[in-house]
Amino acid sequence: MVLNVAVIGTGNMGRNHIRTYSEIDDAKLVAISDVIEDRGKGLAEKFGCRFYKDYNEMFKKEKIDIVSICVPTFLHKKVAKDVISHGVNFLIEKPIARNVEEGEEIVKLARKKGLKMTVGHIERFNPAVQKLKAMIDEGKLGNITSVLARRVGIFPPQIKDANVVIDLAVHDIDVINYLLGKSPDKVYAGLGKALIEKRHDYANIFLKYNGANAFIEVNWITPVKIRRLSVTGTKGYAELNYITQELIYYESIYDKFCDDFGDFVINFGEPNITKVNIKKEEPLKVELKHFIDCIENNKEPIVTGEQALEALRVSEMALNSNGCCQ
Ligand SMILES: NC(=O)c1ccc[n+]([C@@H]2O[C@H](COP(=O)([O-])OP(=O)(O)OC[C@H]3O[C@@H](n4cnc5c(N)ncnc54)[C@H](O)[C@@H]3O)[C@@H](O)[C@H]2O)c1
Repeated sequence: MVLNVAVIGTGNMGRNHIRTYSEIDDAKLVAISDVIEDRGKGLAEKFGCRFYKDYNEMFKKEKIDIVSICVPTFLHKKVAKDVISHGVNFLIEKPIARNVEEGEEIVKLARKKGLKMTVGHIERFNPAVQKLKAMIDEGKLGNITSVLARRVGIFPPQIKDANVVIDLAVHDIDVINYLLGKSPDKVYAGLGKALIEKRHDYANIFLKYNGANAFIEVNWITPVKIRRLSVTGTKGYAELNYITQELIYYESIYDKFCDDFGDFVINFGEPNITKVNIKKEEPLKVELKHFIDCIENNKEPIVTGEQALEALRVSEMALNSNGCCQ
């Protein structure tokens, strides 16, 4: 089955959705919309679809099964409400909205209308993350005690309406919740404005989960792009690089015995190191294909609106905590 798809917002991320849909056999890109006419028209010509300046007109004229909403975050609620009123299934970029209250409205309305929705938490579809999740669920790392995430790099000039926590840390919060299968009980953060006057551009966030701790470093001031995650458990340690999709697993080798004084001693040997075999894939393509499959086969998306809301709720806790524990 081939589904008709459309994209609203043809900027940085929308352009990627357009290109990716055009590469998927089960999708036919029928139309795109942007308030910047030159930008949208040029892309429509390139990808052989129709252009609309007004997305409401697009929904009136076209039969659309799925739409990607790729407008700036402050417009998510408005555009999502309009899309829902037209009865169209949608993928909305992350974060789900600029605040939890607006996000809740989107999720509630979509559920009420019986529409399928998902949120662009793209890192879930990184093959290295999927493999790491499978290894954790198989028990290869034992009980997870700590997770460390770094997502740092330079300032993205097109982001004018978000701070580094809701723009970047929300990815890591969502991934860590997913890997651990739970949400943190406590959130503690130190945030600051180093190079940008009005918005936080660096944050260090400590998340206390039942049985595990996590630490996230995000910023827009490190001159090199780093996207890494490491996980420590009682049976091993894993290091993941989101960019190269590499995953290295260190299996712990140790004996536990009682010494002459009756105390328990742990004797560690050299770990077994494995470079885990990962079939590299473009996360956005995996994400869009998955959502198409959910619509075609009436499945619940891997990233639910509620999970995206939870990641935003924790981000808000971090923002509100600055210096104290929430
Ligand atoms: N998943 C990811 O990794 C990821 C990466 C980057 C951005 N994003 C998210 O994608 C969203 C868009 O970010 P971006 O960097 O592409 O922004 P952008 O500014 O580059 O693009 C947004 C586009 O939306 C258009 N637009 C605004 N109002 C519109 C309207 N009413 N109708 C149609 N088009 C309209 C703008 O003209 C612009 O072309 C944000 O929510 C951002 O957080 C996600």
